[in-house]
Amino acid sequence: MKFYVCKICGNVIEMIEGDAKRLRCCGEEMKLMRANHSGEGEKKHLPVYEVHGDRITVKVGEITHPMEEDHLINWIALISHDKVAKKFFKPGDMPQASFPYIKGSEIYAYCNKHDLWMTKVK
Ligand SMILES: [Fe+2]
Repeated sequence: MKFYVCKICGNVIEMIEGDAKRLRCCGEEMKLMRANHSGEGEKKHLPVYEVHGDRITVKVGEITHPMEEDHLINWIALISHDKVAKKFFKPGDMPQASFPYIKGSEIYAYCNKHDLWMTKVK
């Protein structure tokens, strides 16, 4: 599964299947969002997880991300070869979620100001 963004209005969508070249918003082609894995802001955005038996607890990030009206983690998603799980947040929530432990899955965190971040589950 891939995520696309409209560079004009900021709409974000998931592409489940099909031809991404046909995705349009505000009259323009939507852009593939490439997840950050490191770099500036990493400590506040990169998802971190702990394994507890058959589940993982995910937090964003190593230093808890702000959860304010104009700057927050909108959602965390876990994507594996055959499953998708997602948790949405609102201002004041803790950017934290519990998902099944699936080796090789990818955990995405989306910040409304600093885009998409991804950690792979080992
Ligand atoms: Fe942020």
